Amino acid sequence: MKKYKIAVLPGDGIGIDVTNATMKVLDTVGFSDMVEYTWGDIGWEFWKTEGNPLPDRTIELLKNSNCCLFSAITSKPKEEAQKELALELHEKGLVYSSPIVKLRQLFDLYINLRPCKAYPGNPLNFRDDLDLVVFRENTEGLYVGIEFHPVPEDVMNCLVENHPKAKRFAEADLNDVAISTRIFTRKGVQRILKASMEYAKKFDYPTVTVVEKPNVIRETSGLMIREARKLIQNYEGKELWETNIDAMCMWLVKNPQNYGVLVSSNMFGDIISDLCAQLVGGLGFACSGNIGENFAVFEPSHGSAPKYVGQNKVNPIAQILSAKMMLDWLGEKEMSKKVEDAVAAVIAEGKVRTYDMGGSSTTTEMADAICEKIKGM
Ligand code: IPM
Ligand code: MG
Repeated sequence: MKKYKIAVLPGDGIGIDVTNATMKVLDTVGFSDMVEYTWGDIGWEFWKTEGNPLPDRTIELLKNSNCCLFSAITSKPKEEAQKELALELHEKGLVYSSPIVKLRQLFDLYINLRPCKAYPGNPLNFRDDLDLVVFRENTEGLYVGIEFHPVPEDVMNCLVENHPKAKRFAEADLNDVAISTRIFTRKGVQRILKASMEYAKKFDYPTVTVVEKPNVIRETSGLMIREARKLIQNYEGKELWETNIDAMCMWLVKNPQNYGVLVSSNMFGDIISDLCAQLVGGLGFACSGNIGENFAVFEPSHGSAPKYVGQNKVNPIAQILSAKMMLDWLGEKEMSKKVEDAVAAVIAEGKVRTYDMGGSSTTTEMADAICEKIKGM
């Protein structure tokens, strides 16, 4: 019997190209010998044909796997999603929702870990000395999906009765009002804060920066800051920095080298992690792990890039580094180090560069160059 069962979900668009490239690397480093891979269905195709981008059989597959390597999916706004649905599925009241957001909540993958490290030699680096790590809360906040439009009368009445500031909406036409809720729980903020502080301790980062907006969003951001101040007391020698999301965007463009571990809620973490990714080469390098207590889904932060489908063109490094994070999570430290060192060596050498790096190498050529480095180790 193999040591691991891993679900592979390439999804849509270029997901398949970067997944194939990553499988080559996992084969070369010797990981695949220990694994039973099962490829599963997810994404736009299954929305169009089945009305469900995350079929139950895929959820079952994940439940029977140690972890999952996921790639990219296409999502489109509500009206377009309805239009592309198979004819026989119209009128069934089906509504498209992001399968990755659903997976994060369903499996309680509360940490979205997004390391943004500059590998020297990458022409896209803002600076070569950056080593930022974003901890994004992954199950709550603005992503809970509790939204109203039109707003039901009961909901509006409840707000008006319970909050003086809701009174100015009391007379509004409820068809013209939309509400999206931002829900934080103490448990939710505590566990993401704790994860970020443990990481700072383990990997010797001197600071943890909480990125919120407590001066305006007093209750949710406020809860997070208050809990952070308490928790940091358990981490001797670590400094807690508190920065508002807007100012943080500015500081990250000005002095990113001053920061290390950043921790934020779901939406702000989403924003800040794209910013950090761009400082170290953009989405072609942005890897991530959705991590819970006993299960994890590893994915690049990029999308399915429909315009590059079938061109063998995109940079597979984000997916390869996501697989590297998976190796780490599984405890395969030696293999993980080999993969990272090989990626760093190819970047440093600068001979093989995909289009985003100003070169013309293909997805396959990038993967092959990384594999060659591994073979030479
Ligand atoms: C990400 C993406 C997703 C998100 C989308 C695809 C739902 O932007 O992983 O950062 O918003 O979380
Ligand atoms: Mg994002």
